[in-house]
Amino acid sequence: MTNSETTHRPRILLGVTSGIAAYKSPEIVRRLTERGCLVQVVMSTEARKFVSPLSLQAVSGRRVRDDLWDEVAENAMGHIELARWADLVLIAPATASCISCLASGSAHDLLSTLCLATRAPVFLAPAMNHAMWAHPAVQANVKLLASRGVRILGPAEGQQACGEEGLGRMMEPYQLVEAVFEDPKKLASQLLKNTRVIVTAGPTREPIDPVRYITNRSSGKMGFALASAAQAAGAEVVLVSGPVALDAPRGVGFVGVETAEEMYEQVWQRVQGIDLFIACAAVSDYRPQAASSQKIKRKSMEISLDLVRSRDTLAEVASITDGPFTVGFAAETQDVKVHARKKLDDKGLDMIAANRVGPDCGFDQEANALTVLWRDGQIELEQAAKPVLARRLIRLIAEHYHSGRAERNISSQVVQA
Ligand SMILES: Cc1cc2nc3c(=O)[nH]c(=O)nc-3n(C[C@H](O)[C@H](O)[C@H](O)COP(=O)(O)O)c2cc1C
Repeated sequence: MTNSETTHRPRILLGVTSGIAAYKSPEIVRRLTERGCLVQVVMSTEARKFVSPLSLQAVSGRRVRDDLWDEVAENAMGHIELARWADLVLIAPATASCISCLASGSAHDLLSTLCLATRAPVFLAPAMNHAMWAHPAVQANVKLLASRGVRILGPAEGQQACGEEGLGRMMEPYQLVEAVFEDPKKLASQLLKNTRVIVTAGPTREPIDPVRYITNRSSGKMGFALASAAQAAGAEVVLVSGPVALDAPRGVGFVGVETAEEMYEQVWQRVQGIDLFIACAAVSDYRPQAASSQKIKRKSMEISLDLVRSRDTLAEVASITDGPFTVGFAAETQDVKVHARKKLDDKGLDMIAANRVGPDCGFDQEANALTVLWRDGQIELEQAAKPVLARRLIRLIAEHYHSGRAERNISSQVVQA
């Protein structure tokens, strides 16, 4: 096992069979690795006539496997080792012959044998001439496999390598990768496996006297949705929240707090050994210098309130050496991206999710849109219901977290060498 495998990155076993579309397989590998996956390529014997194992090895960083009789494999049982290793099997392209073998349960080569042995979900991207695809034998095989839970991706319609047009082209690599990541119950449940995450949510209340406080309009909905999405992605999650009218998500550890100071204390007690810190709470930047122990009475003259800065939990967590991957939020009323990038830089965050807030957007709404920024990039996450947006953001965070870790592992290996 390499260093980068000690944390759980999604493991995709890419099967490549001998259709013309195999020339696109290196791009599938590249796109999967860019999204933080470990990719192991297994080729059918004939597939090397269409794409070189060397290209696939170069992009995946792993020896391509194609031999059932592999003496180098663990216990000489490569098919079992690979079947257990995979979180998901994607065969792209899947030939008519491969589909037929899988439907009949044939175990004649490494790929077909491991497909029988694996408990991982299997996705197929058929690619063939349109008449072959329309043939009742192929259709019957596809139907049978789908009824057993195999996901069939495509095929697409259009110009074919044989010069004809029709339904049978392999879906494009980017579409296949999207489809693999879209399946919420399958790969999504592996994205943050073996990670520990703290999410903060909601507003804080800074007391002025026993009956009054300073607070803000945060409802906690986005933070709660993020905690839930991180838990669904396989993480062990603790949600530290200010006062909100929401039930704690199932399967998530919950800590309720009231003030910024309490939020700081509760986070700090738990931050050791945490992999990701997602600070979605709208923590009050200021608090009254001294809360009155008695209710402040109405007086004839004006009174003023002295405010002091609260401790900055996010900045302090971000400054921990070898600390967690930190994600902040920026709710701004103007120049959203400018303020967000400044906050990212000033606090030394790994990522920041920014949104505009106002009467019609942001706080206490059911939907939101985000601009997510990191050191050398940014992406827009379109308007969506907060649970949907939270799942997209968790996916993005997981990709950056895993690729950052992989980079750190490579550089520490270089330093050690
Ligand atoms: C030039 C050429 C192109 C081919 N393209 C396809 C194809 O796109 N889809 C397909 O199902 N079979 C195609 N075939 C047939 C398969 O290569 C053949 O059925 C092979 O035995 C499948 O083996 P495999 O699935 O183990 O790789 C092609 C054959 C040749 C010679």
